[in-house]
Amino acid sequence: MTADWYKYATGYQIYPRSFLDTNGDGIGDIQGVIEKLPYLKQLGVDFIWINPVFKSPNKDNGYDISDYQDINPEYGTLDDVRELVDEAHALGLKVLFDLVVNHTSDKHPWFCASRSSKDNHYRDFYHWVEGKEDCPPNNWKSFKGESAWTYDETTQSYYLHIFDKSQPDLNWKNPKLRQAIYDMIQFWFDFGIDGFRLDAISHLQKAAYDRQVTDWEGDGPWGPFMNVEGIKTYMTELKALFDANGALTVGEASGVRSPEASSWTGDGGYMTMIFEWEHNARDADNHGSIPDFIAVLNRWQKDMDPGGWCGLYLENHDIPRIVQSFGDGSVAASKAFAVAYFLLRGTPFIYQGQEIAMSGLHFTELSQLDSVTVRDVKAYDSYIEKGLTPQEALDKVSAWSRDHARSPMQWDDSPKAGFTSAEPWLMLSSNYTERNVKKALSDKNSTFYLYQKLIALRHESKLIAEGHYCPVDEGNAAVFAYQRILGDEELLVMANLTRHTALLKLPDSILENDWQEIDLGQDVSCETLTKELSLPAYAYHVFEKRQ
Ligand code: NOJ
Repeated sequence: MTADWYKYATGYQIYPRSFLDTNGDGIGDIQGVIEKLPYLKQLGVDFIWINPVFKSPNKDNGYDISDYQDINPEYGTLDDVRELVDEAHALGLKVLFDLVVNHTSDKHPWFCASRSSKDNHYRDFYHWVEGKEDCPPNNWKSFKGESAWTYDETTQSYYLHIFDKSQPDLNWKNPKLRQAIYDMIQFWFDFGIDGFRLDAISHLQKAAYDRQVTDWEGDGPWGPFMNVEGIKTYMTELKALFDANGALTVGEASGVRSPEASSWTGDGGYMTMIFEWEHNARDADNHGSIPDFIAVLNRWQKDMDPGGWCGLYLENHDIPRIVQSFGDGSVAASKAFAVAYFLLRGTPFIYQGQEIAMSGLHFTELSQLDSVTVRDVKAYDSYIEKGLTPQEALDKVSAWSRDHARSPMQWDDSPKAGFTSAEPWLMLSSNYTERNVKKALSDKNSTFYLYQKLIALRHESKLIAEGHYCPVDEGNAAVFAYQRILGDEELLVMANLTRHTALLKLPDSILENDWQEIDLGQDVSCETLTKELSLPAYAYHVFEKRQ
């Protein structure tokens, strides 16, 4: 395997809780992942990233870890992980785990010890500031919009948490903490894990506690813990460990801007690649803007072209599905988006269900939401007071719910969609009888087979792996069009991401070439390229230059 294998590869993200339940408790498990490895092989992916399966009280579905080196029993055991790694490797698939080291659960033994007294060994594993109740050390707010500090009576001090108060932040300034984390990472490398998705990695460093937030717009509120000066020390240490183990790493690194991201990734960077978040921005009702989507991806591609590397994605476990938020819910939309992002410069990831155009949930009662919070209930009540109907209020409150992406995988049209024999932990999407794996596999025009073709195309193409990114008709608000160029070789990609016919302007430099369309199962092929090309709703075409 060459050092740049990941440039030709595709990843598949598994949300294990919702993938496949093999022991009849309504919750997906590791044996379920093992059972479906041949399916993933059929799709053609090269590696899987599995969301956290470690011991956890599940306040944040596994992102609140209480034991880094053991498995939550609902998912299985360390022996199951051993089997998973062996089976995956036997099939040529690599396995990435989620590395959640910005914070632990408040039930982690380190935190239990840390909060117990001011002079215990683990005290400085976390951020503690002495103080009086109702008088937090500064005005920092967590991502939940509440104070980032929680008062703890035992030692009359505050601890920092940039997520939920059940997820206290680890103090990376403490070398003992860092060594404990590095030992844990080595444990998983020795176990056979091939790499990690790095959760919230750009937040490891915190500003001095006397820094007050004055700018409450944009990134301002998160400034004291977004890519803060000093983080490079930790990233450099992590890189040494990753490199020594030949790991594949992908960082969730919000706050690392496109001009800087290049230096975080690629050959000299801290990690193999980075997930940028900006292209996925949506409004309060979770509707994304297509012009913004195209413009942001275009900017990132240009800024990363000199040597950075992106993890390319449309969906993940934190955001409602693409067809629902940016598309019109149709299978046609799922295909146009697939083509648009898959041939960009970077390594594409497919989130489970994306390959069968899964499209989220329709809630009819507040109690159906898993991730419902007190804030949601209050918001719901306030919408009712404003005169909205119960359904309208529910639609508002649930628009951004992470449940949309977390509904159980739709394997077939049997009563529980083939996901479980029990009651699933989260409701199923009502369209599972139409959109499921069994049906997709029996339809040669399905989104599944489009992804299969795209993955195969990437495997073979140095042009797609290494070629430069060049925008076409930059500023077009509906059609995402670009070229990939490597020496004499050229690829031309175009996808209308709207439900309306749209025009694409092609320059003479493109029209002068002799092009051949690549068969990606599109409804109508494009006979000739013209200066102003009219593309029907969700049409896509990919051409290669004839040599
Ligand atoms: C990002 C993860 O994707 C999300 O699910 C989690 O809640 C936060 N990090 C905190 O770990």
